[in-house]
Amino acid sequence: MSSLLFPALLLVGPAVQAFGIAGQYHPYGLTPSTWYQPDSHPVHALFRRASKDDGVAYASVGSPEWSKGFPADPGSMQNMPQAWLDALNKAVAAGKIPDVPVTTTPPGSNPTYPDGYDPMSPDVCSATYQCRIPDDIWDGPDGYLSLSFDDGPLPPSPTLYKFLKQKDQHATHFYIGTNILQHPDCFKMAWDNQDDIAVHTWTHPYMTTKTNEEVLVELGWTMQLIHNSTGGRVPKYWRPPYGDSDMRVRAIAKEVLGLTTVIWNQDTNDWSLSDPVPITSMDNIATQMHTWLTGPKKPGLIILEHELSNQSVQAFIDAWDLVVSNGWKTTSVAQMGGSSAYQNSWNATSPVTQAKVADLSVHPPPAQAVASTT
Ligand SMILES: *[C@@H]1O[C@H](CO)[C@@H](O)[C@H](O)[C@H]1NC(C)=O
Ligand SMILES: *[C@@H]1O[C@H](CO)[C@@H](O)[C@H](O)[C@H]1NC(C)=O
Ligand SMILES: *[C@@H]1O[C@H](CO)[C@@H](O)[C@H](O)[C@H]1NC(C)=O
Ligand SMILES: [Zn+2]
Repeated sequence: MSSLLFPALLLVGPAVQAFGIAGQYHPYGLTPSTWYQPDSHPVHALFRRASKDDGVAYASVGSPEWSKGFPADPGSMQNMPQAWLDALNKAVAAGKIPDVPVTTTPPGSNPTYPDGYDPMSPDVCSATYQCRIPDDIWDGPDGYLSLSFDDGPLPPSPTLYKFLKQKDQHATHFYIGTNILQHPDCFKMAWDNQDDIAVHTWTHPYMTTKTNEEVLVELGWTMQLIHNSTGGRVPKYWRPPYGDSDMRVRAIAKEVLGLTTVIWNQDTNDWSLSDPVPITSMDNIATQMHTWLTGPKKPGLIILEHELSNQSVQAFIDAWDLVVSNGWKTTSVAQMGGSSAYQNSWNATSPVTQAKVADLSVHPPPAQAVASTT
């Protein structure tokens, strides 16, 4: 897994420069040659940037040509590109995808493994059961609130986007593929704001209930749609719906598609606010936010929030003054700790390459980087 080594190796050079010279967290002062790295990860062959030189262009977001190649039947394997399947089979044959059985979801309970498989064991390590898998991201860098929102783009999203823009903030949006197809204007608004777009699967299932091939298409189609809608960027992060991932699902995301899994360390349950019987309330979230935002800054916060309803958006907006008054530094989840937002581009405006863009840091950032920011 050479791709994981790049961040560490680069610390000696660019990270010192990025964090040291200016005396603040500012990863952008580097010339392209310092942070483009060749990479042999299969993902770069699967999502090649269309080039005007080849006479290929991306259809404009929202047009019929843009949406027509994507599956109407979400679970359909029929038109999965053969190259995706080949890459999966190759990873399986190389022993890179742990043979963890799929779960079942008895009504009202967490995904359940067959007898003999402990969700907390290192071989299974289910995030649903709070088992933290090495290299997955649960915590933010010390002192940072890392912004992210799940389940969009949806009609409540523009209110959030206007607010973020007004406050000069950028967030990571873990988007559902089918929602992008249905709300292209909301998508464009986030993209125009130069926010970071990441993957929240095509249809929002419990991913551990899915076969290897199903996991692949849930992630692959969402990546393809984001790729085709962002000038050829390859998403770098995904968040499993319900936080449901394990060693097998994570390995497919990482080994075949180059995706890093992001969970969270605080949960508002704001997804339920618009339900007939919510399991939380605006008051309750305000109390939680107060506790978290006036609390310790080590580790930094990654709060699970949704752009799912007007209420869930409002719950974030209501908490914003506390973010500012308590001195939290803010960044998108994708760019926290000095990371690029995409596998082949730094962010929404920087150049797109045919290969990997190296991180400037690791998650969480090294002590020297934190020290120079405080
Ligand atoms: C993505 O964009 C490329 C380049 O325009 C195009 O060839 C491909 O068909 C698009 N994919 C889908 C699923 O529409
Ligand atoms: C959400 O807010 C928007 C903008 O204020 C409003 O147009 C819409 O009706 C609201 N939706 C619901 C379900 O309350
Ligand atoms: C994107 O990166 C460029 C440098 O590559 C920087 O100038 C710009 O501010 C960044 N944009 C955002 C939204 O972070
Ligand atoms: Zn979700």
